[in-house]
Amino acid sequence: MDETHGRTARVREVRRRLAEEGPPWTRDRAGDFETVTLPRHECDALRDLLTAERARTVVEIGLAYGSSALAIGEALTTVGAEHPRHVVIDPYQESAWADVGWNLLRSAGLEPITTLLRTPSSIALPRLLTEGLVADAAFVDGSHRFHEVFVDLYFLRRIVRPGGVIVLDDATAPPVRTAARYYVRNLGWTVHTETPRCTALRLPDPPSEPPFEEFREF
Ligand SMILES: C[S@@+](CC[C@H](N)C(=O)[O-])C[C@H]1O[C@@H](n2cnc3c(N)ncnc32)[C@H](O)[C@@H]1O
Repeated sequence: MDETHGRTARVREVRRRLAEEGPPWTRDRAGDFETVTLPRHECDALRDLLTAERARTVVEIGLAYGSSALAIGEALTTVGAEHPRHVVIDPYQESAWADVGWNLLRSAGLEPITTLLRTPSSIALPRLLTEGLVADAAFVDGSHRFHEVFVDLYFLRRIVRPGGVIVLDDATAPPVRTAARYYVRNLGWTVHTETPRCTALRLPDPPSEPPFEEFREF
């Protein structure tokens, strides 16, 4: 088995165990893992999408139990680019989640390609923009409040390269759907794929910056 396949196999095994046996720790709420985490088939769809995009750099918002993060990690190891990068943002990973997602990423051998930023996305994303990060894709599953999602998309629009994709979890939830609709109606984002939970939006290339007089209600 070559190195890339070995790395991918290790991530797959951690993913399989997490989906079949659950995480080593959960919050003290009945069915919390099943309620919170991205289900296995949705994780597979996310992995396949990012693999097809040949993604090298991915930003993720909301780590929790790490199911989606492991799927992104599997995509990055499968693509096998020279310097893959996964930037994960979650201010509560230690305080609310006992680092369970982060420890799973580490046990999958993904620590060398993963950066965990333990601050709210509204603080982390402008910093990443200032640092000049350019991503191929993003996965948004953090705060589901309208204003937080809207701000996430505002900054991701400038971090994800033109033509890249932004995948939204819970895309039909009213605050998420409404925030996304602004970008679709006003800034030329298009629906790339839809699953029961997630919508992948593709950014226009070149970027669209219409005059404010052309604003469309959303
Ligand atoms: C639905 S869970 C994510 C589930 C995760 N994708 C999985 O597969 O297990 C939402 C996550 O968003 C995080 N979160 C909440 N507010 C946030 C914020 N302002 N910035 C970044 N992450 C946030 C929470 O700590 C939580 O881990």
